[in-house]
Amino acid sequence: MKIISAPDYVSMSRKAANLLSAQVILKPDCVLGLATGGTPVGVYRQLIDWYEKGDLDFSKVHTINLDEYIGLPVQHPQSYRSFMNENLFKHINVPIENTHVPNGTAHNMEAECIRYEKLVESLGGVDMQLLGIGNTGHIGFNEPNDCFDTMTHIVTLKEVTIKANARFFDSEADVPQQAITMGIQTIMKAKKIVLVANGENKADILEKALFGPIRPQIPASILQLHSDVTVFADEAALKVI
Ligand code: GLP
Repeated sequence: MKIISAPDYVSMSRKAANLLSAQVILKPDCVLGLATGGTPVGVYRQLIDWYEKGDLDFSKVHTINLDEYIGLPVQHPQSYRSFMNENLFKHINVPIENTHVPNGTAHNMEAECIRYEKLVESLGGVDMQLLGIGNTGHIGFNEPNDCFDTMTHIVTLKEVTIKANARFFDSEADVPQQAITMGIQTIMKAKKIVLVANGENKADILEKALFGPIRPQIPASILQLHSDVTVFADEAALKVI
């Protein structure tokens, strides 16, 4: 695992975007695994900037997102599909049909989990997976558990995650209670993983995830077992490391 320190959020985002763009340049038809949350927004801004300058071409790229809220209409501004459209897809030339986000309004969510897992496989797997980290140590929406969940599945969100994500909604009561997420095994199958974390509030969980025991109560700790992980963090998030 490589840990790259950056002085601030913008610099952290630029460094992480650099790795993602190298992936796109080296393999123009690559599969990028993408993440939501506040942290990756700076990475997306940087990619958009380089795209607008003519340095990047996403026309052959496929993207596959980690997760989606269950029950939130796709058009809702806080659905992860809307988030991705607004923060990245509509600004670059990735064909929208090449972009994939789990369907959180499918009639049969179990079937949707199976469909999504097969989709990842049919794309040939993820070349580079971008991750943030939640306050509970979750990646995607893999919350602390008694075992590492494997494939794409449905989760009930922890209270602390609902509270953390309430900042994007009108009120805490509006945050969906459940989500569909790629599983730990799905994430671990990505060839390369890029994790971004910034701010003092991520410092303790980042230290536990990167250096603590590998245990499902800290889902991100499994990343210690992956052979190609690069962590980009600002100094605040690395202050106890
Ligand atoms: C959500 C997402 C995660 C993300 C986490 C942290 O729960 N499902 O993928 O890592 O939020 O978000 P933030 O970057 O806003 O702290």
